[in-house]
Amino acid sequence: MKTITFVLMSVLALGADPEFNKNGELVRPKNYREWIFLSSGVGMSYGAGNDPFTNVFVEPSAYRKFVETGRWPEKSIFALELRKPATEGSINKGGQYQTDFIAVEFSVKDTPRFPDGWGYFGFNGSAPTAKVLGASAGCNACHSKNAAVEHTFVQFYPTLLEIAIAKKTLNPSYKP
Ligand code: HEC
Repeated sequence: MKTITFVLMSVLALGADPEFNKNGELVRPKNYREWIFLSSGVGMSYGAGNDPFTNVFVEPSAYRKFVETGRWPEKSIFALELRKPATEGSINKGGQYQTDFIAVEFSVKDTPRFPDGWGYFGFNGSAPTAKVLGASAGCNACHSKNAAVEHTFVQFYPTLLEIAIAKKTLNPSYKP
């Protein structure tokens, strides 16, 4: 019993590192909807068409480290889920709400693994693994240039932005 408790506690403390297969592809994280919710946006998307909603989640152990330090630890993993918008359904008159799943993207901070420290991945349909996206996908270029903390868009995650301001960890290039 003691051993089981110990193992359980270690797993909870360590959280879940991103898993890569032997070809270096990211294994699709199944439980990202149980991670910490950072924010959602509508019409934030860049190319996916039809103004989807975006929902952002971060793996809990990375979140706790950010709350302490204002920085992301190695192996931090983030999800950006895209969902279709709808309006005038059920009792809803003017507002917009979310419906079907479109796609999910992930980013991973892993300095030894990726040339500029961060890897970006996209999952359409039910693909179980994804290759890291190359420069032509444009993910790294936009994130490294415009994000408020490291490569992440903390300027759009209000509770994290307060922490980054307090800990003075905003990127020098970031303009509010
Ligand atoms: C033109 C700029 C731009 C490009 C290109 C871009 N993103 Fe983002 N990304 C954003 C913005 C803005 C957010 C903030 C959240 C939102 O959209 O609601 C974001 C958020 C994210 C997040 C949540 C964590 C974070 O970094 O804040 C992930 C994961 C992500 N994007 C993955 C990708 C992937 C994968 C690609 C390439 C296929 C990509 N992004 C391309 C602008 C961009």
